[in-house]
Amino acid sequence: MALFTSTSQGIPETGQIPRHIAIIMDGNGRWARQRMLPRVAGHRRGVEAVRNVLRTCIQRGVEYVTLFAFSSENWRRPPEEVRFLMKLFRRALLQEVRRLHENNIRFRVIGDLSRFDPEIVRLVREAEELTASNTRLTLSIAANYGGRWDILEAVNKMLAAQPGKAHYSEEDLTAQLALAHTPEPDLFIRTGGEKRISNFLLWQLAYTELYFTDTLWPDFDEAALEAALASYGARERRFGRTSEQVQQAAQQTPSA
Ligand code: IPE
Ligand code: IPE
Ligand code: MG
Repeated sequence: MALFTSTSQGIPETGQIPRHIAIIMDGNGRWARQRMLPRVAGHRRGVEAVRNVLRTCIQRGVEYVTLFAFSSENWRRPPEEVRFLMKLFRRALLQEVRRLHENNIRFRVIGDLSRFDPEIVRLVREAEELTASNTRLTLSIAANYGGRWDILEAVNKMLAAQPGKAHYSEEDLTAQLALAHTPEPDLFIRTGGEKRISNFLLWQLAYTELYFTDTLWPDFDEAALEAALASYGARERRFGRTSEQVQQAAQQTPSA
């Protein structure tokens, strides 16, 4: 398994285009309500937005995309909406995985799958196996995911893997996190206007650039993603250093 630099332990090489984008896809319900449609119609359109965003990410050379599809808190929604989201997830697994594979996309799911229907778990594992050696882009879907759950799971796995160790390092912990197969996100996007993390990637967002937009997820098209990429490209990622140090370092090792 590849090991990635932790942004608080080392300074990663960064470029104009984020290697890893993590997205909270929010606003489906409001998109539907604006059109006098049931909330679930917004979720259906949300799947189309995912396709468009993936296409643009591939074109722009993004290597990792992580999407928040269902949070550990979303079980609190009305049972019919939860049931619909499960149906949509199952259908997407049945219909989209072949296309992902044809496009050389590696597919992973992060989150606690123990509450899901066994058929969904089987489809997820099959899709992960089928696409395991794909290299164009890694798509991770967060389903029944919570950042606190992720950290606690990692701590428990770390203790089980290396019992009785006197001192555990950041590396020991990050190796057990759900996104151990990716570098930390460079760019975080939340659509739908809310400015919160909602228990998404709490550990991994330590040095991520944050981007919030009022655009509702079903409306998040290529132009909207380009605006986020432009905002990212205009930022200076200092990782604790001064601006002068960043500029000096850039002259010594010009990044791609
Ligand atoms: C995000 O859209 C999708 C999920 C949480 C599954 P919402 O359903 O939260 O849409 P709003 O926030 O109610 O508009
Ligand atoms: C966060 O959206 C989770 C997903 C997008 C899957 P929510 O719409 O559930 O977030 P809160 O509850 O408003 O913070
Ligand atoms: Mg919401």
